[in-house]
Amino acid sequence: MSDERIRDARLLDRIMSADAAAAFIEPGTTVAMSGFTGSGYPKAVPLALAQRIEQRHAQGEPFQIRLLTGASTAPELDGALAKVDGLALRLPFQSDPDARKRINDGTLEYIDAHLSHVAQHAWFGFYGEIDTAVIEVSAIREDGALVPSTSVGNNKTWLDLAKKVILEVNDWQPAGVEGMHDIYYGTALPPHRRPIPLVHPDDRIGETALRCDPAKVVAVVRTHGPDRNSPFNPADECSRQIAAHLIEFLQHEVKAGRLPPNLLPLQSGVGNIPNAVLAGLAASGFRDLTAFTEVIQDGMLDLLHEGILTSASCTGFALSPEANERFKRDIDFYRQRIVMRTQEISNHPELVRRLGCIGMNGMVEADLYGNVNSTHIMGTRIQNGIGGSGDFARNGFLSIFLSPSTAKGGSISSIVPMVSHVDHTEHDVSIIVTEQGLADLRGLSPKQRARQIIAHCAHPDFRDALQDYFARACRDSYGKHTPHLLPEALSWHQRWLDTGTMRP
Ligand code: COA
Repeated sequence: MSDERIRDARLLDRIMSADAAAAFIEPGTTVAMSGFTGSGYPKAVPLALAQRIEQRHAQGEPFQIRLLTGASTAPELDGALAKVDGLALRLPFQSDPDARKRINDGTLEYIDAHLSHVAQHAWFGFYGEIDTAVIEVSAIREDGALVPSTSVGNNKTWLDLAKKVILEVNDWQPAGVEGMHDIYYGTALPPHRRPIPLVHPDDRIGETALRCDPAKVVAVVRTHGPDRNSPFNPADECSRQIAAHLIEFLQHEVKAGRLPPNLLPLQSGVGNIPNAVLAGLAASGFRDLTAFTEVIQDGMLDLLHEGILTSASCTGFALSPEANERFKRDIDFYRQRIVMRTQEISNHPELVRRLGCIGMNGMVEADLYGNVNSTHIMGTRIQNGIGGSGDFARNGFLSIFLSPSTAKGGSISSIVPMVSHVDHTEHDVSIIVTEQGLADLRGLSPKQRARQIIAHCAHPDFRDALQDYFARACRDSYGKHTPHLLPEALSWHQRWLDTGTMRP
């Protein structure tokens, strides 16, 4: 690697191996790492740390850390550290099978937090002291400022708060990413906060690099490794139907004058259904779209490439290997159209409300009244976490949740009498879409919402049972405002646990 990537001469004598850098991390400490949805995470130090932990464990010595990041990462980070039982605490989001297993075994404590909250909670001292920050960058400038790589996440906060800093300089990341970032240093603690001066999704309000006190940098590690995200499956029939219902609704909203022809800034969760929605938007003739979102995935890159999306603001990427190559190859094109921000800004409630974002996120299940569970299977087993969905659901112009109407081979209804865990309350959910149809819950009372959801979203195999529950609840419930039969409300989940199906 040429020293074009490490341009601050003061740091040259701190270049070392990942093993030597990992030796700075002590058992029982809080370590804050970069990384957001498989992009911009450190690729060598976590693996070296996992090895060190394994060796200590083999000698009968305890060694665990508390790990904070931007969001989920990849097997080299979450997976490697979870596999060696190296994590005592994890926050704020994960999607790794090994970490998930330990969390659900009860051996790894997990704090599932709104992604916009994490930086401020760290500043408020809610997570204790941060000992070490391990941050991937694409370059170090002459003055020591750090050019982020493909995610920004909480890196600004980690660099500001950590006592010592380990940098990974990854020359697999395109040098041309320099200039794509916008790091806002105007946040403050209450009562000194001021309005954030961002009024358009592509406004630039900050600096293009992260500030870092060089005296805190204890190690610089050169790496050369790809970001890793799973390839997307081609959209299946179910995803296409969900996308079609949503697009028809958006077209209707434009005709009714409630949305401008180019919509409002889009936020899109990660996964095959949101990808199908993005592809559907392009095919339906929408133009001049913008995005104010947390993650850019393949579908958004395509829309930018085709000129349908004029700009996108994000904090990270979730690209398939093919899309990653395209991003790197055409980096000069994308740098003019993408602004990467810290996650406290990309997901900021003040900005999501001001811009009027259209939030589109996946869900596990919804209930008759529009409460949504995004995180817990059968109310107890965490899948991933709430991520940024709550930031956008509560504050967006439209809060849309998308899911197939059944799961696990049709044995589970995604529309249930009462959700087994609540992430988004009935007050935060405006639209629910399944392949069966779309329920528009705006301006409706609880019983009106239930009728819409049963009629438009439930799978026919479960519709009669839901209707029967609702009718009996309307007759027998203690209160008739949000009718429920309490002994039965969660019986569908219990039946699945007992018999393998929610069917009566
Ligand atoms: N009951 C039980 N299990 C269910 C279920 C339900 N109602 N709905 C889905 N599942 C299971 C699936 O069977 C699958 O299990 P598997 O991994 O064992 O196969 C798993 O949950 C994931 O479901 P999948 O159909 O693959 O959906 P997805 O990849 O679109 O993910 C969420 C759906 C809800 C898990 C995902 O959107 C999420 O994590 N959301 C929260 C975070 C978020 O919204 N972030 C947005 C900002 S980026």
